[in-house]
Amino acid sequence: MNNIFDLGFGQTKEEINLNQLPVQGEIPNWLHGSLLRNGPGTFIVGSQVYRHWFDGLAMLHRFQFQNGKVSYANRFLKCKAYDEAISTGKISYSEFATDPCFSIFDRVKNVFSPKLTDSAKVNIAQIDDMYLALGETPMQIQFDPKTLDSLGVYNYDKRSSRHITTVHPHFDNGGKAAYQITTRFGRISEYRILEVNKHQTPRLISRYSVKEPAYMHSFGMSPSYFILTEFPLVVYPLNILLSGRPFIENFRWKPEKGTPFYIFDRKSGKLVNVFMADPFFAFHHVNAFEEEGRLYVDLVAYPDADIIEAFYLQRIRDNNSPLPGGEFRRYTIDFESQNPLPYQTFSEENLELPRFDYSALNMNSSYQYVYGVSVNRKNPFSFYNQMVRIDLKNATSKLWFEKGCFPGEPVFIGKPGKRQEDDGVIVSIVLNETKGNSFLLVLNASTFTEIARAEIPHPVLFGYHGEFFQ
Ligand SMILES: [Fe+2]
Repeated sequence: MNNIFDLGFGQTKEEINLNQLPVQGEIPNWLHGSLLRNGPGTFIVGSQVYRHWFDGLAMLHRFQFQNGKVSYANRFLKCKAYDEAISTGKISYSEFATDPCFSIFDRVKNVFSPKLTDSAKVNIAQIDDMYLALGETPMQIQFDPKTLDSLGVYNYDKRSSRHITTVHPHFDNGGKAAYQITTRFGRISEYRILEVNKHQTPRLISRYSVKEPAYMHSFGMSPSYFILTEFPLVVYPLNILLSGRPFIENFRWKPEKGTPFYIFDRKSGKLVNVFMADPFFAFHHVNAFEEEGRLYVDLVAYPDADIIEAFYLQRIRDNNSPLPGGEFRRYTIDFESQNPLPYQTFSEENLELPRFDYSALNMNSSYQYVYGVSVNRKNPFSFYNQMVRIDLKNATSKLWFEKGCFPGEPVFIGKPGKRQEDDGVIVSIVLNETKGNSFLLVLNASTFTEIARAEIPHPVLFGYHGEFFQ
C-alpha cells in the first residue's frame, strides 16, 4: 500500500530519459513542444528531512510532445546546494523554512555571509534566449531545455546578494520585456521593480523604501501600471540575520497594517497612488486589466498567512482537515476609491496555483477562464486533490477529480488558430497513490474531461510551476 505523503514528499530515486511513453487515449496531433516543470526532487538528504513544501532540492521535468507522442526526462538542478548536499550527505544551505544544523561557529559566519539556497525550484521562465529555473533567492539558474543541464547562476539584481525576488515575472511586447520585483534588505529596505534582459544590465524602473518589507511571491501588471500588493506578513530584516530561525519564520502577521495596493506608473516608474484593502494574504496574482478608467486586480486570497503554516510537512501528515482554501477575488480600483478596496468573488470553489491563457489574454479584460488546483469538498484532505476551472463571466465551475489522484498545476495550451478562449488542452502531472507513480494528464480545456494520459514509472513529487514552450 502506497502512502501519498511518502510519494509526494519523499525523494526521486532516478534521473531517467524515456523516448516514448505509453499513452491511453489520444494526444492531439497539433500539440508540439515541451512542458517544462520545476519543483522539489527530494525532501530527504542523508538522514535529514526538509520541513516545508517550499524546501527541498530542485528537479526539472520535461514532457515533449510530437505527432501524438510524448517523451519524458527528469534531472536534478545542479547547483551549489545540490552538490554540497550530495557530497556531504547533509542539508547545507538555508531554505524557505529549513536551515542547516549549524555549529555556533558556522552560525556566526553565516550572519556575515549567509548560505542562501541556489536550488531554484519554484518556476520556469524564458527571458530573452535564456531558460531560467526561478527561485526566491538572488540566484536564478540558467539551464539547457534540451538536456536539462544547468548552465550557471544568473543574478538580475547583481549589486546585492541580500535580496529576495518574486518568482512570477510578467512579460510584455510579445515576451521581449520581462519584469520582476525584488526586495533588498537593509536598515531601510527597498522594493525594486526591474526590467530584466539577458544582454543588458537590468533597468531599475521604480524603487520604494520600506522599514518592514512584506513577503511577496508575485505582483500584478496592467497595460499602464505595476501593482505591488503588500500583504501584512512582514519582517524586521535584521531578524533574518540574527534570529537563528529559518527565513520565513522571521516574518510576522500584522493585520493592523491592512493590505496596501501600491500603483506604479509603468512609463515613468512613479508611484501614482496607494489604496488600502482589508488585511489578506496571497501568493498569486492572476491577471490585471483596465476598463473605463478603472483598474481590476485578480488574485487568489486568504484571510491570513496560515496557508504557509499549513504547508509544513508534519502538519500535512498529521492534519486531517483540508488546507485553507484560496479565494479568487477581483479587486476594483476606480482611482477615487474609498478605503477599504471592494472586491468581487466568482465561485464557491477554492483555487490555488492559478493559470489562464496568459500569452493571449494577459492584461486583457475579456479573459473568462481560470484554472487551478483545490481540495475536493466531498473528499476533504490536507493537500490538493482536484483541478478546478472557474468561468468568470458566468460564475460557474467545473471539476476534475479521481479518487487517489493528486494533480499539480494545470497549464493551458491553446490550439493554434483557436477562436474560443478555451479551445485547447490542460496538462497536469498527477500523482497516483494507488499505483505509486505519476502520469501526465491531458484534459479538453473546454469540457474539462480527460482526453489522454501518459504514465511514467516513478512518482513526481508535489511541485509548483511550469511552462509550455513551442
Ligand atoms: Fe507561485
